[in-house]
Amino acid sequence: MRLLFIGDVVGKAGRAVVLAELPKLRAAYALDFVVVNGENAAGGFGITEAICDDLLNAGADCVTLGNHAFDQREALVFIERQPRLIRPANYPKGTPGRGANLIESASGARVLVVNLLGRVFLDALDDPFATIERELAACPLGTACDAAVIDFHAEATSEKQAFAWFVDGRASLVVGTHTHVPTADARILPGGAAYMSDAGMTGDYDSVIGMEKDEPVRRFTTRLPTSRFEPASGPATLCGVAVETNAQGLAVKVAPVRIGGALAPARPDFW
Ligand code: FE2
Repeated sequence: MRLLFIGDVVGKAGRAVVLAELPKLRAAYALDFVVVNGENAAGGFGITEAICDDLLNAGADCVTLGNHAFDQREALVFIERQPRLIRPANYPKGTPGRGANLIESASGARVLVVNLLGRVFLDALDDPFATIERELAACPLGTACDAAVIDFHAEATSEKQAFAWFVDGRASLVVGTHTHVPTADARILPGGAAYMSDAGMTGDYDSVIGMEKDEPVRRFTTRLPTSRFEPASGPATLCGVAVETNAQGLAVKVAPVRIGGALAPARPDFW
């Protein structure tokens, strides 16, 4: 299968590059399954139903979230009727929505998508390692699903790497999100999990992690908030990772993807 994961879409600029580029990518690369992290899609904070629908209509099969999952309060309601919107699986019991789902691709393949939050420098949620153990036991790769994509939304690279080693051999792709900067370590681990510490954000990099620079610089230099954080609105870079899997659902190829905006372009050379 040909999988594409697109990192944290930030604000209108991020949405615009996804809406412009994803339909072309789907067609050009004959993609089987696309996952988009949309937790910053609505003005940098959370997601609305209309924006979620836009991302799905542009070619996403599934939208994942993170620590900003419910910043737009309507997400607490519409996530219940949107099986393709996945929030972190290690939120407390009773949190609306699903932390994992088995989603059928257009070609009929069954793809398990799991979203988890790390616990280093983030809220102390349930153990993501114990949570993924449970999810993978319920839906083993190669038998119950044809591919397994895990979006590990976390701050610390150490936690992301430890998590990837923990699930290697049992997932097609483990990709980090949340730091909004792409890492240069896309590779396939010995057990067959494609891994990238962070996919990077899909947004305007002429910014501080997607936000207009002035207010973050002011807060770092004066400690005083003077205005709201606003998403940067210049040309965005679509950032992500492309993966090809074999019949067992394990990765055989992986490459970073960067299209448009301020970052050097990158596209997979194997498709
Ligand atoms: Fe985040």
